Amino acid sequence: MKRVVSGIRSTGKLHLGNYFGALKNFVTMQHDEECFFFIADYHSLTTHPDPKALHTNVKNILSEYLAAGIDPNVATVYIQSDVPQVTELSLLLSMHAYIGELERTASFKDKVRKNPENVNAGLLTYPVLMAADILLHRADYVPVGKDQEQHLELTRRFARRFNQIYGVEYFPESVPYNFGKALVKIPGLDGNGKMGKSEGNGIYLSDPDDVIRKKVMKAVTDSGPTEPNSPMSEPIANIFTIMDAVSAADTIEYFKSKYASCEIRYGDLKKQLAEDIIKAVAPVREKIEDIKSNDKYLHEVTMEGAERARKSADQTLKDVREIMGIYHF
Ligand code: TRP
Repeated sequence: MKRVVSGIRSTGKLHLGNYFGALKNFVTMQHDEECFFFIADYHSLTTHPDPKALHTNVKNILSEYLAAGIDPNVATVYIQSDVPQVTELSLLLSMHAYIGELERTASFKDKVRKNPENVNAGLLTYPVLMAADILLHRADYVPVGKDQEQHLELTRRFARRFNQIYGVEYFPESVPYNFGKALVKIPGLDGNGKMGKSEGNGIYLSDPDDVIRKKVMKAVTDSGPTEPNSPMSEPIANIFTIMDAVSAADTIEYFKSKYASCEIRYGDLKKQLAEDIIKAVAPVREKIEDIKSNDKYLHEVTMEGAERARKSADQTLKDVREIMGIYHF
């Protein structure tokens, strides 16, 4: 079994893209690999969230992960700040992380451009903390999206550098976990690109039925096919892609043939899609609510997860301290 580490920032909540994409794969993967899933609440602090909101967001994401089928008896599920060993590893790694390379990171430059009034040191060292998250468990694999590839590249660079400086082969080179075709990409409802929390084009697992209906009915379409079997425009193809995830095969077939014969009514298509999304999401939403109302369960899960993560972390720090010469009498 390989070790896999995945972190999610505790901002916002999960949308259909997360659920049918990465999360479905995590639920399968947890049985095949030794998985560490954690909520990166320290990382969230870079944007100065309101303390109450931070707590609520951590609780939301955790409940959503559990409701989606991440099994805390199988995977190690924890909150980053419950394992403060990661901050020590981050500090130790930061001694070999150069300001220049951190300043050149795309995510840092992006943040500087967007929020010039909040260029804090935590933002600059964000990739060091992320490397510490990963190397804390000496991960072989990290499932990451495109936007995180550069951070993972830096992680490998820090690992190699550490090994080289101290003449050890201690840290592995953590590589992306590639789900290949199994990774479903859910598009947004605005006609182009994928569903994402920053785009405001998403349906959330926590959305009530009527909100789902409203959002779907507002989805971008086109003026309709004018010739039989004409190719689909992106907005229409996107609607069918979402259908692939939630609707029955004969339903999809039905609307595809209506499209091909130019008889399709987008209103009907969207109504069907909304109901099928609701059918898929409602049970998960109920589970999320159940879990959220059970603080005792959440407490048990996070304590147990933290304990397991700390065990792995303690071993790494014991080794790293010794390698770096931090031991006394
Ligand atoms: N930076 C990641 C994101 O924004 C979150 C993250 C923090 C992470 N630490 C990690 C992801 C370690 C994978 C491994 O999505």
